[in-house]
Amino acid sequence: MLKRPRRNRKSPVIRNMIQETHVSAANLIFPLFIVDGENQKVEVKSMPGIYRYSIDNLLREVESCLKIGLNAFDLFPAVEEALKDKYATESYREGTLYLRAIEAVKKNFPEACVVTDVAMDPYSSDGHDGIVKNSEILNDETLEVLGKMALAHAQSGADIIAPSDMMDGRIGYIREILDSNGYTDVSLMSYTAKYASAYYGPFRDALGSAPKNGDKKTYQMNPANSREALIEAQLDMEEGADFLMVKPGLPYLDIIKLLHDNFDLPIAAYNVSGEYAMLKAAIANGWLSEAVIMETLLSFRRAGATSILTYHAKEVIEKGWVK
Ligand code: PBG
Repeated sequence: MLKRPRRNRKSPVIRNMIQETHVSAANLIFPLFIVDGENQKVEVKSMPGIYRYSIDNLLREVESCLKIGLNAFDLFPAVEEALKDKYATESYREGTLYLRAIEAVKKNFPEACVVTDVAMDPYSSDGHDGIVKNSEILNDETLEVLGKMALAHAQSGADIIAPSDMMDGRIGYIREILDSNGYTDVSLMSYTAKYASAYYGPFRDALGSAPKNGDKKTYQMNPANSREALIEAQLDMEEGADFLMVKPGLPYLDIIKLLHDNFDLPIAAYNVSGEYAMLKAAIANGWLSEAVIMETLLSFRRAGATSILTYHAKEVIEKGWVK
């Protein structure tokens, strides 16, 4: 045998020498759930180790993350049912929980990178990402709400705005509103290829944001399709997105690779709540070892993602697996 691939695996030094991809703390974005009130830290049932924080505790959490080199956060609000309405007006109301949270983080930790989520569902009495009329999701009317929400996030200090709603034309619409208000420096991380996935279950539990009727299949993508992701990516690029995101991550590694190979923008992978719950449950049962966590994060980097939104972000740094 002339060729023996095992020679390149014979020692840790050589294995490390030829390692093609790495995960570093700089790649990670940590999603954090927030609730109103004081001194709240409530674990999400289906996501062990993940909590809903009131703003005071959110600041403590952000501080402890910054100390270990985890610098980017994606915030999601759990909104009281009584504050929800058909038009998600709570999403841009002055003084609302979410805007206060953004301001508090940026005021206390200007160096933290705050990613904000633009979508109606946490504030919608219908639990949808758009305005519902006669069981239909209205696209263009929804853009107006998303525009107000995005502008409010920018005014509160958001570094990156991430529209997760999947309405047509929202990246261009939001870019235009931000620019005409002087927020040309605020970035847009588009949920480019967001699939109608059952993997969002634990997130919807965390926020109480599940659709009251129907599903999200008229706006989120069909899990059977990949070419459609190219159409979405092309539009997002033309409309001024700074990042393209693929979501969920693990069942859509081929889509990450597809966008990576066809577009020059950085690709973000969202390792969603259900993916987290799945690994945590198997680990807790002793069915899988903890090593699956790094193997999963590496797979996103190998597929071509630059950044990873993951609920594992803090633990992998704390455990010393990621630096
Ligand atoms: C809402 C939104 C969802 C997630 C992020 N933003 C859920 C949904 O579309 O129903 C899911 C994140 C996760 O599951 O971790 N627009």
